[in-house]
Amino acid sequence: MLDIVIFGGIGDLALRKLLPSLFYLCRDGHLPDQNRILCVSRAKKNRAEFLDIIKEKLIQFLGHDFEEKVWTNFSETLNYLDIDLSGHDDWYKLEQYLSNTPSKDRDVIYYLSVTPSLFTPICAKLKENNLNSEYSRVVVEKPLGEDYQSACAINDVLASCFSEKQIYRIDHYLGKEAVQNILHLRFSNYLMEAVWNKKHIERIDIKVSETVGVEGRGGFFDRTGTLRDMVQNHLMQLLNYIALEPPKTLGADDIRDQKLKVIRDLVPIDIKNVKSSTIRAQYIAGKIGEHEVPGYLQDLKNQPYDVTGTAETFVALKVYIDNERWRGVPFYLKTGKRLDNRHAEITITFKKPENDLYHEPDSNQLTIQIQPALTVSINLLMKKLMGTGAALNRHQNQMDLNSGDEPRMRVPEAYERLLREVIKSDQTYFVRGDEILASWEWIDGIRQAWSEINLEMQQYEAGSEGPSLE
Ligand code: BG6
Repeated sequence: MLDIVIFGGIGDLALRKLLPSLFYLCRDGHLPDQNRILCVSRAKKNRAEFLDIIKEKLIQFLGHDFEEKVWTNFSETLNYLDIDLSGHDDWYKLEQYLSNTPSKDRDVIYYLSVTPSLFTPICAKLKENNLNSEYSRVVVEKPLGEDYQSACAINDVLASCFSEKQIYRIDHYLGKEAVQNILHLRFSNYLMEAVWNKKHIERIDIKVSETVGVEGRGGFFDRTGTLRDMVQNHLMQLLNYIALEPPKTLGADDIRDQKLKVIRDLVPIDIKNVKSSTIRAQYIAGKIGEHEVPGYLQDLKNQPYDVTGTAETFVALKVYIDNERWRGVPFYLKTGKRLDNRHAEITITFKKPENDLYHEPDSNQLTIQIQPALTVSINLLMKKLMGTGAALNRHQNQMDLNSGDEPRMRVPEAYERLLREVIKSDQTYFVRGDEILASWEWIDGIRQAWSEINLEMQQYEAGSEGPSLE
């Protein structure tokens, strides 16, 4: 028995991601019996109007996966309430709705799919109306602050209403199959764990490139920039999973303790090393595939926002971790918009053999591709058929994570996977409060160094690979 209450229930995230994910969970039998989904928003709508909107959007976003039969079942679980979240008058409606059930001990998941400025009134009202019981959970997601101070404030607001065990901070990268596979890959293969350290690894590259620009989000993006929009969360999560020490168990807190230690061991980037360790850059007009695309400043001009055009759309960092396992191994983090292709991958480059008889220019590499394909590949250097010692073959063995148990099994979307974990009350793939503060503290150091030395904003052509740190 479960109630899922989505604040911002007909907003973009709910329509594009949350409701389609819940539709799949309903179809595949992953929603508990007597489940109800309540969408809350300020707009006045009757039930029929609300259902029309949802159905139209599901058809749009699910394509061929939309099925009338599933819709009939799913729509029976859907409800709508109009509540002015920052006001006082409408909250009785939620109380009435939640108390109108046969069982008092229903679990309630509150999904705050709203701007963080509404977290305070929502938490206050839930508390005032005794709607935060031991059976409730709350789900929130980025932007969870824009620096350490504001992230502390958000943590405090959430803590005023819920205990840490009830808080699920989403980073959608943690819902991606390839990311969830990293710990399996590392800890269930002797071959991996035995060489997963500075003695054997030369460098690690974590790259997330996008072809999209700022789309309709110019106002938000120009206040935020890529360091805060992508690095503080997604890239740092990838770094944590690659670098963490073996947790005692696979329990959520054992894993999250180890992730926190990685962040605390990151060597600070400050005015001494910021020039050699970072690049910030902005795209200018260029060509992606066959399409001419405008530069960032031009993109902003086409939007109705008050903007300065000073945000970076690309960041590259060279990062070191000061612990026994990683001291001296560079981690190169690179991400940007309007790059040559949409691609996210982690590449681990191994050292050369100590007694390097063949002097091959290449080294062994393990590549974990997160998107668009879901693959893990290892290249091994081998002798060519009839070749001499000097003519080695670069042989790539590729495993496709996408193959699943059945051929062409559907890979669930990140939100679907994460919602399922919240329903199961498993916090493993959610970010803990202390982790988020530690990552902001480290990122704030970079921003401060950028501003103190006024680090040059480089430019890169849209459709290129972006600038390189080496
Ligand atoms: C979001 C950022 O968190 O992640 C966006 O705000 C970015 O700017 C997006 O485009 C990338 O996610 P994905 O899953 O498409 O790689």
